[in-house]
Amino acid sequence: MAVTEAPRIVTSRLGFEDAHTLGRYLATGGYEGLRKALAMTPEAVAAEVDAASLLGRGGAGFPAGRKWAMLRRSPVTYLVVNGDESEPATFKDHLLVERDPHQLVEGVLIAAYALQVTRAFIFLRGEFALGLERVQAALNEAYAHGAVGRDIFGSGFSVDVVVHPGAGAYICGEETALLESLEGKRGFPRIKPPYFPAAIGLYGAPTVVNNVETMSNLPWIVVHGGAAFAALGEGRSTGTRLFALAGHVNRPGVYELEMVKTTFADLIHAPVLGAGIRHGRQLKAFIPGGVSAPWFGPDQVDLPLGQDEVAQAGSMLGSGSIVVMDDRTCVVRAAWRITRFFSRESCGQCTPCREGSGWLERIMERIETGRGREDDLDLLLDACDNISPGVAWPPQQTTICVLGPSIPSSISSAISMFRDEFLVHIKEGGCPHG
Ligand SMILES: Cc1cc2nc3c(=O)[nH]c(=O)nc-3n(C[C@H](O)[C@H](O)[C@H](O)COP(=O)(O)O)c2cc1C
Ligand code: SF4
Repeated sequence: MAVTEAPRIVTSRLGFEDAHTLGRYLATGGYEGLRKALAMTPEAVAAEVDAASLLGRGGAGFPAGRKWAMLRRSPVTYLVVNGDESEPATFKDHLLVERDPHQLVEGVLIAAYALQVTRAFIFLRGEFALGLERVQAALNEAYAHGAVGRDIFGSGFSVDVVVHPGAGAYICGEETALLESLEGKRGFPRIKPPYFPAAIGLYGAPTVVNNVETMSNLPWIVVHGGAAFAALGEGRSTGTRLFALAGHVNRPGVYELEMVKTTFADLIHAPVLGAGIRHGRQLKAFIPGGVSAPWFGPDQVDLPLGQDEVAQAGSMLGSGSIVVMDDRTCVVRAAWRITRFFSRESCGQCTPCREGSGWLERIMERIETGRGREDDLDLLLDACDNISPGVAWPPQQTTICVLGPSIPSSISSAISMFRDEFLVHIKEGGCPHG
């Protein structure tokens, strides 16, 4: 079956034009999760999230309950929400911040209460002008409603929430770069260890960083219970998840689907989802989890949309972005464009990432534009190996953050799946696709 009977958890209000207003939010069960949470102990709220087995939706898929349990209790702790979402073809958080900002705010408040933090930050991509406006407007409404600020709903719990626009760097989605940026510094990822901001985070204090979609699931989890969430999906991949479907499909868009019970084939071909490949063409390849992920071919299209299932097949669900390429796609050009993105967005701290990404981009460009050399494929793979030794998946990391080891994915996938096409580019002096 293409679409299961699973409820819509984070997209339930998107049919309403005014879904972003407090009026609509309250009329559709809004802030009931927060009221329920405030009547529970913080530990009981955290236990529900743990029971839900909610995996973080920002890319790494770390369980939210486990991350929360690592927070070092200290007089000052922070909660930071990651709404940077600057990766090409990744646009699912964008939808949540623009269309249901109160749900995000309520999730933040529930997490703040469970973690007992008194200051939370929502870091949003600076280019999300409407999203920033709507989240700020929702916060203002929530303050006026008594849901944020001092003594929330008379519970005695107080928390302030600040919206912070990013300054337009993809690397600020990496959580430690995000914290640097929030502190007013250049968005450079921090050296690890410490591995988790839960030990040393914002302003050196213990901090939980979670993704927008992760937070947006919390109101439903508290209202319905962690077990109800865990009953959806399978194995470690519980609940539903948003998938941003991009590329050569008839109906690109964001779809909320039950994990594992739905496959890539369902997402791409079901009439109510992607509705098949555009212009009746064939599937050539797809990227299963954002541009950092190794590519899959048509033979892997029946894989379930599950974190472990995709990892076992040699890639990742990552940021939930799926890019579909039809049989007319020039894979050299596609991999070149992705490499160009990484090269421009490398923060420059690590030599393999800074220099290697530029070398790769220039070699890919010359192959695509007809100046390729016979030894370029070996050169490409050698440069990839210098960025991430072994060019394997999961990748080896020699750099401060995982942007570096993400760079080889598209090139090594394209070469291993479509080597002949590279050779045609080199022999025929350019792209046969025109
Ligand atoms: C280069 C890079 C970019 C990232 N961009 C984002 C992003 O835009 N949004 C996000 O939530 N996580 C992003 N992440 C992952 C975060 O570092 C972090 O794991 C995540 O925000 C944690 O939230 P979660 O546990 O709820 O998934 C990025 C990681 C890297 C290495
Ligand atoms: S891997 Fe790249 S983006 Fe990450 S810290 Fe190093 S230079 Fe910066």
